[in-house]
Amino acid sequence: MEILEIIKRRRSIRKYKAIPIDKKMVRNVLEAANWAPSNGNSQPWEFVVVQGEYKEEICSLFYEYAKGYIPSATYINAEDKSRMLHYAKDFGGAPCHIVVTYPKDADPCKREEAMQACCAAIQNMLLQAESMGLGTVWISAPLKDSEKVKSIVSLSDDRMIAGIIPIGYPDIHPMAPSRKDPDMQEKVSWLGF
Ligand SMILES: Cc1cc2nc3c(=O)[nH]c(=O)nc-3n(C[C@H](O)[C@H](O)[C@H](O)COP(=O)(O)O)c2cc1C
Repeated sequence: MEILEIIKRRRSIRKYKAIPIDKKMVRNVLEAANWAPSNGNSQPWEFVVVQGEYKEEICSLFYEYAKGYIPSATYINAEDKSRMLHYAKDFGGAPCHIVVTYPKDADPCKREEAMQACCAAIQNMLLQAESMGLGTVWISAPLKDSEKVKSIVSLSDDRMIAGIIPIGYPDIHPMAPSRKDPDMQEKVSWLGF
């Protein structure tokens, strides 16, 4: 399948089938991550794959946060609030999460580049998962900055979380959100052509 087709077909999945995923498939997704480009070829990413009680603890933290945040968010309508709260209980029932981490370099530029490399790794993961019929969603704030999540996954003080990726078999197939400026008339400047 064409890479562009996979890129366009991938969606954030917030409801999963109650089917475990094979460890080999997770390894395959991680292999794709490990082949991402990185600053100075540093390959700064490390991964913690969680299920069972570790996953439940991460879900509980997220739900606690969501219960405080979602009801009072003025930009979310009532129907979406209840749907989002339901999803927040367990990330839509994903059987497994992948926590992506990078070194907390003292140099802020290097730290940012390591985070950027992890973003490339995460996108590789999402696309590889899509190509295998698996769904994912990229979770960032507030969990990636949570000391409690770091503690659940036994992350050392010198590493940070780039993102948390629930993964599993999709139980929904959301419509693709439309593109802003789909013909890219405004987003792209061609200089010297
Ligand atoms: C850096 C980043 C952080 C995101 N954080 C969250 C998140 O915390 N919770 C969530 O449900 N989705 C999160 N998403 C998914 C976006 O909401 C989603 O990509 C966007 O709505 C477009 O939908 P699509 O992925 O189906 O194309 C995040 C995506 C990115 C790239």
